[in-house]
Amino acid sequence: MKQKIFVANWKMNLGVAESLKLTEELGLALRSFANKNAEIVLCPSFTALAALLGLLQEENPSGFKIGAQDVFWEEKGAFTGEISPKMLLEAGCEYVIVGHSERRANLGETDEMVNKKVKISLENELVPIVCVGETFEERQKGIRDVVVARQTLKALDGVKLFGNKKVIIAYEPVWVIGTGQAVLPEDAEHSHRMIRETLLEIFPVDAVEKHFKIIYGGSVDGSNIKDFTERENIDGVLVGGASLKAGEFVKMIKAIA
Ligand code: PGA
Repeated sequence: MKQKIFVANWKMNLGVAESLKLTEELGLALRSFANKNAEIVLCPSFTALAALLGLLQEENPSGFKIGAQDVFWEEKGAFTGEISPKMLLEAGCEYVIVGHSERRANLGETDEMVNKKVKISLENELVPIVCVGETFEERQKGIRDVVVARQTLKALDGVKLFGNKKVIIAYEPVWVIGTGQAVLPEDAEHSHRMIRETLLEIFPVDAVEKHFKIIYGGSVDGSNIKDFTERENIDGVLVGGASLKAGEFVKMIKAIA
């Protein structure tokens, strides 16, 4: 089986102490479980990043990677409250979630902003995890493919990929996030295929193979993980709620051993 990526998006749920506790629990549970099939990325809140790095520098047998939940599109300057890619690198991040639907909906994040964040992440050797996905209304109107293709194309507008640069596209149907009810795996696979075809409109086939992964997010848990990871076209999962429970997240990772 190809290596699958597991991104734990803890959202605005855990403080520093709680983040460290959860990471220690995960580390302990996975200690004797070297799973080469899984790349695990933990995305805590900004305030917990540095502490997590400290902990993982001491001991990290499972090879956990650190990701941030957002980044600003400038390197430095008068942008009160924002965080730069260099600050994330300093705090140990290798990945960054960009354009999550919660930010698009609550903070007015646009395709243009997402595009700028993707570019600055790549310039700074961070791997952007770009979230795309339709709302329930868009699906009802029959425009899900149009919306997802538009978000994908705009996020990557003018992006140059070379060397070892990587981009992860996370297909997250907005209407199933946090509901406990994922879409059917074949439904996710349809969107994944469509995203891959969209990528092929702007990049050559070998570049799509080399630089992109496409993962699924939206109510993935221990009970349905295999339905998704078993599929050749699904390179991994972005997990919210279920990643906050050590037992559940470990069960998911062990499921693909
Ligand atoms: P969920 O969240 O797993 O709780 O549905 C996924 C996400 O929002 O990234």
